Amino acid sequence: MEKKPQDGRKGAPHREVPPVVGLLLAMALMNLLLYLCLDWLFISPRRAAPGPGHCPYGSFRMGQMKTCSPWLSCQELRTEVRQLKRVGEGAVKRVFLSEWKERKVALSRLTGLEMKDDFLHGLQMLKSLQSKHVVTLLGFCEDDNTILTEYHPLGSLSSLEETLNLSRYQHVNTWQQRLQLAMDYVSIINYLHHSPLGTLVMCDSNDLPKTLSQYLLTSNFSIVVNDLDALPLVNRSTGTFVKCGHRELHGDFVAPEQLWPYGEDTPFQDHLMPSYDEKTDIWKIPDVSSFLLGQVEGSDMVRFHLFDIHKACKSQAPAERPTAQDVLDTYRKVLNSLRDTVMSQTREML
Ligand SMILES: Nc1ncnc2c1ncn2[C@@H]1O[C@H](COP(=O)(O)OP(=O)(O)OP(=O)(O)O)[C@@H](O)[C@H]1O
Ligand SMILES: *[C@@H]1O[C@H](CO)[C@@H](O)[C@H](O)[C@H]1NC(C)=O
Ligand SMILES: *[C@@H]1O[C@H](CO)[C@@H](O)[C@H](O)[C@H]1NC(C)=O
Ligand SMILES: *[C@@H]1O[C@H](CO)[C@@H](O)[C@H](O)[C@H]1NC(C)=O
Ligand SMILES: [Mg+2]
Repeated sequence: MEKKPQDGRKGAPHREVPPVVGLLLAMALMNLLLYLCLDWLFISPRRAAPGPGHCPYGSFRMGQMKTCSPWLSCQELRTEVRQLKRVGEGAVKRVFLSEWKERKVALSRLTGLEMKDDFLHGLQMLKSLQSKHVVTLLGFCEDDNTILTEYHPLGSLSSLEETLNLSRYQHVNTWQQRLQLAMDYVSIINYLHHSPLGTLVMCDSNDLPKTLSQYLLTSNFSIVVNDLDALPLVNRSTGTFVKCGHRELHGDFVAPEQLWPYGEDTPFQDHLMPSYDEKTDIWKIPDVSSFLLGQVEGSDMVRFHLFDIHKACKSQAPAERPTAQDVLDTYRKVLNSLRDTVMSQTREML
């Protein structure tokens, strides 16, 4: 039998390192590590996966699926999807958490036949606009008035505060992540304004809670648009503009051109109401972004840097408002410059 040193320090050197030197070395090493990790800390880790391209029209891929699968048919929806519990409801759809092949999915059912046109428009838009900005369509059945989409357990943006307040998400409840969400939101608006179908206006947005309920928070803390039921088209060359619904709108969340212009003494009449364009979406950006930025450390600093661009979004004249791309460019500049400032300050402290 071989003799082994019993003190655990196999072949340990006889020179002992003085504890103070060891401590100093450890501290220096930690500083170095911190310094190296700064970039990682300040650049959100969530966008690590580039994600392969989107599936061809008529098919989908989600989660760990390696290949694209055709949209589920009526038959498959009826036999392979198990409805579990209701997770949401709006004017048009009732949404159920459901199960398909051991995956969680969202099954939307038309609430009433009087909303069928909106339902079909939404389905058509979902089919045509599949991209990283839009919830993944898994299947549909027009005969049964059902649509199957990817399920997002964090729900809609309406519950963003509650979600970020949970202790397991505290680490993403930062101004960086929140500004990133605002950038996602403006990217979606930009996508709709330059969609493959043309310039689309997000009409289902007459107040802040309603607007928030149309977007879902993914597990990776990005945003996708979910509800595309009211998405009319602007065509400047044919002089086609839009009206969001047939009823009078009120309040200052909607753009001024969406309000009845002829005073209280003249009763509202839909055919006399002037139409408008996609700049109504731009008017709403500051309110949505401000909600997304919330009230964490740094939120107000970001708000301060976005003051000018948000002021421009609130121009009374639609044509004077920036485009979604302009807004997005400004957000990106602000994110980068604040990130650099914070990083260099932190580095100086070390
Ligand atoms: N894929 C999903 N994953 C998780 N929750 C979802 C999903 N789809 C919808 N929901 C929930 O259901 C709610 C209602 O969905 P949706 O906005 O599509 O219904 P709607 O009837 O079209 O609404 P509206 O009244 O705006 O027309 C959403 O706000 C969200 O909370
Ligand atoms: C989140 O990102 C991971 C990779 O980081 C990816 O596999 C997954 O599909 C993404 N989930 C969603 C809901 O986008
Ligand atoms: C966040 O959580 C705290 C307690 O943990 C609670 O007092 C507060 O009301 C919560 N806020 C929201 C917006 O849910
Ligand atoms: C806008 O109208 C013109 C003229 O009719 C047409 O050629 C063009 O395709 C339309 N654009 C969209 C996006 O529908
Ligand atoms: Mg909705």
